[in-house]
Amino acid sequence: MTAQIIDGKALAEELRQRFKARVEALTAKGQRPGLVVILVGADPASEVYVRNKVNGCLAIGMHSEKITYDAAVDQQIVLKKIAELNADPNIHGILVQLPLPKHFNEEAVLEAIAVDKDVDGFHAENVGALAQGNPRFIPCTPYGVMKMFEKGNVDLSGKEAVVIGRSNIVGKPMALLLINAGATVTVCNSRTKDLAGHTRRADILVAAVGKPRFVTADMVKPGAVVIDVGINRLPDGKLCGDVDFAGCLEVAGQITPVPGGVGPMTITMLLANTIEAAERKAGL
Ligand code: GUN
Repeated sequence: MTAQIIDGKALAEELRQRFKARVEALTAKGQRPGLVVILVGADPASEVYVRNKVNGCLAIGMHSEKITYDAAVDQQIVLKKIAELNADPNIHGILVQLPLPKHFNEEAVLEAIAVDKDVDGFHAENVGALAQGNPRFIPCTPYGVMKMFEKGNVDLSGKEAVVIGRSNIVGKPMALLLINAGATVTVCNSRTKDLAGHTRRADILVAAVGKPRFVTADMVKPGAVVIDVGINRLPDGKLCGDVDFAGCLEVAGQITPVPGGVGPMTITMLLANTIEAAERKAGL
């Protein structure tokens, strides 16, 4: 059996087209949704992500700007800027691109963002709301994955779900969303004993481990839904996911490609969260 491919690029485009009317309505009310992205340092991958985030906003009529700092900048300068943005009525979303340089206290920076502008959903209060099953902002990558399940008509209730990866950005919020949707969830990592024993039981398998082609066909239950969150750059410059796509395509029921899978959905859900923040502020 060859798996059905869940096309994240097409779904992202469909959603972004639909967002335009909401942006227009907000703009007409004097609340054009605005996102500020803060980048500290010059990590080439982060620079690409940040550019795509800003351009994604501009393409649907939102306001967006990037603020960059030298890698050696004092944390206090960034905290002062966040405080200014928290008070700026034209800015609805604030995102600090991670990772931050080593001298930063990441938690202190994330906690400085106003909870109602935390479009990444990384503030402890927003993480708590998600854990309680009452989310206000859902972290963008797992939110995008949930939209892909919806698009693929994947019923999560009662299913065995395995997440490989335990990061605050993907693994943990992904697990919470799956729990909230009624799945039976196991969270593994690259060092889990008998990892394949876990993954072979999974009706839903989410790979967010950051290792190229880590998930091979023999680790996948026939008919499973396989979601590849990985974006790894190979020595030849090509991108590949955490899943051996060619091999798993022949075993899975549904699968996401890299590129063109989860990646475009992450930025799409960032746009969704920023629009939602603006709608809440406008009382819509
Ligand atoms: N770095 C990698 N992914 C993300 C993300 O979703 N948000 C932020 N702020 N930084 C990231």
